[in-house]
Amino acid sequence: MSKEIADSASLQSSVVINEAVQTLRDGGLVAFPTETVYGLGADAKNPEAIKKIFSIKGRPSHHPLIVHIAAPDKFDQNQIDWVPILAPWVRDLSEDALKLIHAFWPGPLTLVFKKDKSVLSELTGGQDTVAIRAPAHPIAQELLRKFKGGVVAPSANRFGKVSPTSAADVRSEFEGELELMVLDGGDCEVGIESTIIDLSSGDHPVLLRPGLITPKVIFAKTGIKVYQPNESKDNTSNGNLADALPRVSGSLKAHYAPTTPLRLYAPGRVLDALSEFPDIKSRVAVAVWDSESSLGEDGHPSVHFEEVEVPSDSTAFASHLYRALRDLDQQEWDLILFPEPPIGEEWDGVRDRLQRACFGSGPSSSSQDSN
Ligand code: TXA
Ligand code: MG
Repeated sequence: MSKEIADSASLQSSVVINEAVQTLRDGGLVAFPTETVYGLGADAKNPEAIKKIFSIKGRPSHHPLIVHIAAPDKFDQNQIDWVPILAPWVRDLSEDALKLIHAFWPGPLTLVFKKDKSVLSELTGGQDTVAIRAPAHPIAQELLRKFKGGVVAPSANRFGKVSPTSAADVRSEFEGELELMVLDGGDCEVGIESTIIDLSSGDHPVLLRPGLITPKVIFAKTGIKVYQPNESKDNTSNGNLADALPRVSGSLKAHYAPTTPLRLYAPGRVLDALSEFPDIKSRVAVAVWDSESSLGEDGHPSVHFEEVEVPSDSTAFASHLYRALRDLDQQEWDLILFPEPPIGEEWDGVRDRLQRACFGSGPSSSSQDSN
C-alpha cells in the first residue's frame, strides 16, 4: 500500500471514529471490532442506550453486559495506574486483580468485580457485580480513548447465535437495521470471546468462561490459581458454588448456534455421528484436521461428504471457528460435522463453544433454551 493511500485510510478511519464517538454520546449504538469478536457498543452511563442493545439483540434484560474501557496509551504497560481508571466502576481492587490486569490488559480477559454503586443496574442485570475488560484492538482502543467513558458491548449477534468476527458478519446479523453504524477493523484475531474470571467473591478467582487466556497461562504469568466453577479451594465438595455464581448468558447450554444441525465426531467415527438422524442426510460437510490427509476409509453409499480442513493448532482453530460455522451455515448443508477437540486446557474455549453450538443448532433449534 502506498503511503498516500495508507494515510488517507487512517485519516478516514479517524473521521469515522469521531462520528462513532458522537453516535455513542447521542445515545446510539456502534458495532466495533475487538481482538476477540465484534461488539455492539453503547454508553455504559446511558440507561436508554443500554435498553436499545437488549432490544436489538433480543437478549433478556437480566443478562449482564461487559463494560469496555480504554487502556492509556503508554509504551510500558506496567506504568499504567489502573486504580483511578477502575475507581468509577469497581468497589475494591485486590492485589490479585491488579496482577491480572497488569499481565493481560489490554487483551482478551474480562474480570468480574463487586460493582461501584454508581454502575447502572440496567447493565449488570440487577446484580451487585460488574464485568470489565480493556480490549486490545487498535480501533476499539481509539474509540474508547476518544469517548472517554465505559462502553457496554455484548457480541454483535442476535441472542444465541454465532458471534461475528468481521464487519460483514455484523451487517448480516442486523440486516434490517440500516442505521446501525459498524466500524470495520478486519477479521478478529482471537476469534472466540474473552476469558471471564470472577473475582467478586473476594475469596478465590473462578473461571466463568474459557477463552484464549487459560488458567495455566494465568498461573505461569502471575502465580495466581484460577478455580473451575465446580472446584473448591479446600477440595471439599462445594456443590453450591455453581448455583451461587453470577448469571452468564454464554453459560446456557445452547449458544453460538448455526441453523444447520451441527454434531461432533470422535476420531474415525464420522458414520456414528449420522446414526442419530433417522432420515439420511445426503449432503454433509465434515471438518477434518489439516494434519490428517482425509477421512480415509469412512464412507457411506447415499451420503455425499465434503471435507473442509480446520487447523489442528488450538489458537488457529479458535481464530477460524466462527468464520467456518457462519460460512458452512450459508452453504445449506444437511448436516455439519466437526471433530471433537482434543483433551487439554488450550482446547477448553473452542470445546465449550462447539458443544453449545451443537446443542442449539438446527432449523427450529432449541430456541427456547438458546434465549
Ligand atoms: O470477547 C468478549 O468478551 C466480547 C467482546 C465484544 O468484548 N463480548 C462478549 O459479550 O462476549 P457477551 O455479552 O456476548 O458476553 C458477555 C458475557 C455474558 O455471558 C454475560 O453473562 C457475562 O459476560 N457477564 C457480564 N457481566 C457479568 C457479571 N457481572 N457477572 C458474571 N458474568 C457477567
Ligand atoms: Mg455473546
